[in-house]
Amino acid sequence: MDVTIFGSGYVGLVTGACLAEVGNTVLCIDIDPAKIDLLNSGGVPIYEPGLDELIKSNREAGRLRFSTDAEAGVRHGLFQFIAVGTPPDEDGSADLQYVLAVARTIGEHMDGYRILVDKSTVPVGTADKVAAAVRETQAARGATVEFDVVSNPEFLKEGAAIEDFMRPDRIIVGTDNPRTAELLRALYAPFNRSHDRLMVMDIRSAELTKYAANAMLATKISFMNELSNIAEAVGADIDKVRVGIGSDPRIGYQFIYPGCGYGGSCFPKDVRALEQTARSLGYDPQLLHAVEAVNFRQKELLFKKINDYFAGDLKGRTIALWGLSFKPNTDDMREASSRVLMESLWAAGASVRAFDPVAADETRRIYGERADLTLAADAMSALDGADALAILTEWAQFRSPNFATVHGKLKTPVIFDGRNILDGRLANAAGLTYVSIGRLPLR
Ligand code: UGA
Repeated sequence: MDVTIFGSGYVGLVTGACLAEVGNTVLCIDIDPAKIDLLNSGGVPIYEPGLDELIKSNREAGRLRFSTDAEAGVRHGLFQFIAVGTPPDEDGSADLQYVLAVARTIGEHMDGYRILVDKSTVPVGTADKVAAAVRETQAARGATVEFDVVSNPEFLKEGAAIEDFMRPDRIIVGTDNPRTAELLRALYAPFNRSHDRLMVMDIRSAELTKYAANAMLATKISFMNELSNIAEAVGADIDKVRVGIGSDPRIGYQFIYPGCGYGGSCFPKDVRALEQTARSLGYDPQLLHAVEAVNFRQKELLFKKINDYFAGDLKGRTIALWGLSFKPNTDDMREASSRVLMESLWAAGASVRAFDPVAADETRRIYGERADLTLAADAMSALDGADALAILTEWAQFRSPNFATVHGKLKTPVIFDGRNILDGRLANAAGLTYVSIGRLPLR
């Protein structure tokens, strides 16, 4: 089938490459000529495991093309995926200008039936706005070409996006038109083999499902972070509590890991946007508000622990950081906890020596060259001359360090583990103090 994808960002590229991989002919459109040039010359603008190879093989097979020519895009695909950004406005609500601009472009150039597929995470009611934008643009040129708008939210996790697309938990299709539902079912058939995971529902329920899923996951994390602070206060161990409650299948083991807060482009943005939607309709979403507030406080926790340990005397000290990205297997630093810690340390007059397996370039792009930031080539050299070590991202390579080497390098033998990934007893055995989240410090 012929598929056009508007927006060659994270969601658009993964969707385009995976749809091409199963035999569709995919044309990806982006307004940024530099991005399209890069893709056409074999580069990939984002880091996602497996994506480079998938794009390369499908480009070479002629099933995946990249262009800035929006008109050609509209002519190409029966399916017109909208996967452009929806950055938050100042009040946290999603800015739909790029989504609606694509809708107008489609309305402007379509010469036959098209299915517009909303893939970007968009507030409830967006499909209606997309349809209105297409209708208005058609009316302006005196055309009445048939089309449908479908809500088909994506549930990809950064770092596991290809696997998530190829083997989805669910495929949500929001449409009121049974014929359109069947066309989407045919497009997704290669990803829906073992048992039927495709759910057809009305458009608004599909749109809300996306926000509900992310808000639920963020709630689980904030709940555990809140509980971890209570555990510390009462002298309990949150990891024991986690295992204790997770054994109840109604609670489950997933997404109940406490830490130094959730980040990324999705949870913070989506929780805020859903809160904003509710408020705009006159409902006060108290739980959503608390989920965000708890996360905000949790991101400040590591700084507080470090500052308390050094009795407020951080000026002139150097803190080593392991992990900068908001989670492992990505270079994405949007809303990363590391940023809150680094900025607090700098404000207190301390310097940072950081190591991340892939996010160094992104860190340089965000903060530029500065005297109080050194990006080390590997984890151990980040410790050279450092007073203490803080762990911000649960990269596998940080899980079992040589504690004797760590002890030998740090001026003050203390580790602040923001992801609870180390064995504190081994750290203690090597003479290190171990401070983690939701557990009393081990000395
Ligand atoms: C999230 C959802 O998990 C996806 O299902 C969804 O499709 C995606 O948002 C989206 O809306 O596009 P992602 O942001 O890539 O995916 O990252 P997650 O793996 O969910 O991690 C989010 C954050 O929560 C990370 O900072 C992670 O460290 C933190 N986290 C996760 C915890 O602190 N504790 C946990 O138990 C789990």
